[in-house]
Amino acid sequence: MDFINNYIETNKERLLDELFALLRIPSVSADPKYKADVARTAHAVADSLRAAGADNVRVNATEGHPIVTAEKIINPSLPTVLCYGHYDVQPADPVDLWDSPPFEPVIKNGNIYARGACDDKGQVYMHVKAFEAMMQNNALPCNVKFIIEGEEEVGSPNLGTFIKENKDLLSCDVILISDTSIIANDVPSVTVGLRGLTYMEVEVTGPNRDLHSGVYGGAVANPINTLCDMISSLIDKDGHITIEGFYDDVALISDSERAEMAKTPFSLDEYKQDLAINDVKGEKGYSTLERSSIRPTLDVNGIWGGYTGEGSKTVLPSKAYAKISMRLVPDQSSEKIAELFDKHFNKIAPPYVKVKVTHHHGGEPVVVPLDFPPMQAAIMAMEKTFGKKPIPTREGGSIPIVAMFEKVLGAKSILMGFGLNSDAIHSPNEHYGLFNYYKGIETLPWFFKYYSELK
Ligand code: BES
Ligand code: ZN
Repeated sequence: MDFINNYIETNKERLLDELFALLRIPSVSADPKYKADVARTAHAVADSLRAAGADNVRVNATEGHPIVTAEKIINPSLPTVLCYGHYDVQPADPVDLWDSPPFEPVIKNGNIYARGACDDKGQVYMHVKAFEAMMQNNALPCNVKFIIEGEEEVGSPNLGTFIKENKDLLSCDVILISDTSIIANDVPSVTVGLRGLTYMEVEVTGPNRDLHSGVYGGAVANPINTLCDMISSLIDKDGHITIEGFYDDVALISDSERAEMAKTPFSLDEYKQDLAINDVKGEKGYSTLERSSIRPTLDVNGIWGGYTGEGSKTVLPSKAYAKISMRLVPDQSSEKIAELFDKHFNKIAPPYVKVKVTHHHGGEPVVVPLDFPPMQAAIMAMEKTFGKKPIPTREGGSIPIVAMFEKVLGAKSILMGFGLNSDAIHSPNEHYGLFNYYKGIETLPWFFKYYSELK
């Protein structure tokens, strides 16, 4: 794979221009207004795979956004790597907080600024370009398949069915995903765990109609106040979640694993400075790194009700709403946590309100064992190109399909991402380092090489 640095050098501009073309399409999966753009992005991804040399490239329609699949089978007796990624992006809102328009990529201070630059178009495109480089240099050492979806950011509602119905098309020995982070550009890491997710929505109803807060205020419970009380009771003063049974299935982390984690380079001061906060807050007895990776959480993602328009309106609203999600760790189950939440939320509702709890999407937590042989190939590949052995880390984000892949296809995933936590994914001014983009294209072929040489 020694050709790869030269290939990157020779094609540097083109590798960037092509990614920019992809970043210009606003493939926001959550907002129906962008449906045609999402479809256009699927076709652009398919075209790039075809141009890189993939066969059987398909844009598969689903009930939601399309799923792109492709493959290059050089010899059926060789192992097969299935590359997964997503071409959809999070909404760009609030757009006025961006320093440059989210779908007009620009380079500033060595970073590509655009929605999806890191999560996940930039990282998906590294796979396409690494494949292209191996094809052009006659160096693809095993079979490769691709599955690039357009609904990851909304919980992959149609991907499960698709993989169940296309087991042969997707059959593989290992899955390779770049949709995670490294610790720092000079501290490479491989991801050995992701959190799961349970996403709920609650509706609290008080009186049968909006009321005058002067006429009724003080005598009738305000559902927004009540919802706030209920929410604040979900976490106690020590940062523990109060839902009965919530921690029952949380796997204990050994002291030695915690000690290993504590060695991860991390500066609490820089962390606080980066976020402009004076202090951190979380579960008692755990470090910031632990709180954001190996411990479960509960967060309100949105809350609304009453009057939020210009000026003021003295209203005692009839209803209040919140979206609440919980990050899960092994061996918690997304379904079971949803049931526990539902039961608990109904139980704590005071008699003067009615509550309705809805379960949105979810996903199971994952761990990838360090002694899983392809993991060694990932470690060797990163060591080769970063000049340093990567540190195994557990990350706090979720990729719900990873657990599903293992269940349905019987294959584990290698989580080899190249982003940084400071890349502002899901936030205004998302960016991806040029260093990281090219480093990904450089490293992935080495994974293929070392993986093919295993056994
Ligand atoms: N790339 C992220 C997942 C991620 C982020 C992993 C940071 C590790 C570190 C992915 O695109 C994502 O945002 N996933 C969602 C899943 C959800 C919508 C079901 C998430 O984690 O919120
Ligand atoms: Zn994301």
